Amino acid sequence: MRENDPKVERQKFICGNWKMHGTLEQTRTLLQGILSQWNSEYSDVEVAVFPPFTALMEASRLLQGSAIQLGAQNAYYEDDGAFTGEVSLRMIAELGAGFVILGHSERRTLFCETDELINKKIERSIATGLMPILCVGESLEERERGATDAVVTKQLEHSLAGLTIRHFSRITIAYEPVWAIGTGKTATPAQAQESHAAIRDRIGTLFGRETARDLRILYGGSLKPENAHELLSLPDVDGGLIGGASLKADSFMAIVQAAAQITSQQQA
Ligand code: PGA
Repeated sequence: MRENDPKVERQKFICGNWKMHGTLEQTRTLLQGILSQWNSEYSDVEVAVFPPFTALMEASRLLQGSAIQLGAQNAYYEDDGAFTGEVSLRMIAELGAGFVILGHSERRTLFCETDELINKKIERSIATGLMPILCVGESLEERERGATDAVVTKQLEHSLAGLTIRHFSRITIAYEPVWAIGTGKTATPAQAQESHAAIRDRIGTLFGRETARDLRILYGGSLKPENAHELLSLPDVDGGLIGGASLKADSFMAIVQAAAQITSQQQA
């Protein structure tokens, strides 16, 4: 099934990854800003924010009754035990998180997370009732030597090992070229579309065409209001994982608005 098949309807998904930003006061200000700009025209877009662990409870309280969903940026796969400094999937679920970002490149490079560890976290997150967002993407050096496809394929195969088609309705994938994260450099529309289509093809090979057709693949890496419309309009780009531009209500909501506009154009 190809991207221009008229039956393909994947709801756009816009995620704000706050990273290590968000004292309680900043959380209140940002969420109040986002909620005050929310408009019923955005209701066809799925939106979630990912504050740090320490702000999850307050965010959950503030978002109660709103259309905006909550997720965490990471978690450990064991429910509890002697794991000093870790927070479990069960704990974040208890605080109201429905989603969890796993395998972000900052976790892979700065905190030495491997595909094997990420695989355990994905499996356990689904068993815990959460919806994981698996991040994959190549470094600049890997892209320059033509290894993008091989790197992303390995990340997908190893992080998703042992999963079945049944798990897939709960999984989202985020393609985040490492060289575009926080650098102001964005993948060109052609680069983003090519990588997203390759990921969809690979998932099709591993888990079947229907699974691949229904899977949402988000783009991440310097996504901002200025490039949102162009990137989110691409046939295989189903939303965004946004870092820097998610820290201001105006820029985050401008991206949500772009997604809503594209959705209404597609429905017309
Ligand atoms: P960025 O971060 O939008 O600041 O580039 C994206 C991400 O790391 O998820």
